[in-house]
Amino acid sequence: FIAELDASDIEKGTYPHYMLKEIDEQPFVIRTIIQKYSNDNGELVIDQNILGAINQADRLYIIAAGTSYHAGMVGKNIIERLAKIPTEVHVASEFGYNMPLLSEKPLFIFISQSGETADSRAVLVQIKKMGYQALTITNVPGSTLSREADYTLLLHAGPEIAVASTKAYTAQVAVLSILAEVVARSKGLAIDVDLVHELGIVASAMEELCDTRDAFEQIASDYLSFARSSFFIGRTLDYAVCLEGALKLKEISYIQAEGFAGGELKHGPIALIEEGTPVFVLSTQENVNLPIRGNVKEVAARGANACIISMKGLEMDGDRFVLPQVHELLTPLISVVPMQFIAYYAALHRGCDVDKPRNLAKSVTVE
Ligand code: G6P
Repeated sequence: FIAELDASDIEKGTYPHYMLKEIDEQPFVIRTIIQKYSNDNGELVIDQNILGAINQADRLYIIAAGTSYHAGMVGKNIIERLAKIPTEVHVASEFGYNMPLLSEKPLFIFISQSGETADSRAVLVQIKKMGYQALTITNVPGSTLSREADYTLLLHAGPEIAVASTKAYTAQVAVLSILAEVVARSKGLAIDVDLVHELGIVASAMEELCDTRDAFEQIASDYLSFARSSFFIGRTLDYAVCLEGALKLKEISYIQAEGFAGGELKHGPIALIEEGTPVFVLSTQENVNLPIRGNVKEVAARGANACIISMKGLEMDGDRFVLPQVHELLTPLISVVPMQFIAYYAALHRGCDVDKPRNLAKSVTVE
């Protein structure tokens, strides 16, 4: 009996799954992105034509699906806070059938790991017909969305094989933050963040988290071993990451997982909390640290098993894990890592096919 090796086994190296390898590659990807988007003076730069197109726009429309949509939610926040351009984020499959009133000078930004998602492409075709310009942010040079858009920014994350997206998400957030910073500087806006430095801190913090994966395996086992459903709650940027954390978990472990804005719980979802229901809580934003803690009390009073992941400086007694501190705008790059590991280990413990979950495809080329 001779074991058959295929190329994919070799690329995985010593890793049991692509997903684990790709989670681990994230610090490297962040450093690669800093390097690819820096000039010789160590300043962040993007193509002048792209800068021109963004600066002419009065509103940005981010169009994406799945994990890329969640990266877009984070990107909207960063762009509005740094570059001060009103930005909307839309699910591609909805936008095409229910187009909002557009501003006078819109610019469309398509975020897509594969660059092949049919829902996004349908919107691109529509808005090109309307005469608007588009920028695609993708991991795949020469992909359909890249070829058909006016401009492209690459993620430089290297091939992502696991169906559940990990390093492409963090790459998308990093590239969007660079875009926001460069645009802000080009507009002469005062920005209080040295992004190259802060992204460097992020890369080191990611490394630290990858080194403490055992803690996340333990969390997966403590909270999810017998779970049929689970919740992820957070506010503002943490809410966006909660949606992504819930998506990761449902995609690969098949445990029902829903992300909610902390303040919305009392308007319905809290009815689902039972004795022992796992609730993952993110708290990385100072201005909502106390409100989200209030939400924890609400669910705990109904018997929830709350797993609080907070950021250094905001931690309180009883928090299960404290994340290393990074710039407040960049916290999604860090807080998503425990979510990825928890989903990975939950799926592994259940014997799921981590890299190729049922019913899902890496790139969905049909509408
Ligand atoms: C599929 C994948 C998701 C991905 C989404 C968007 O549904 O399973 O992981 O987030 O497509 O893909 P894209 O390549 O456009 O980022």
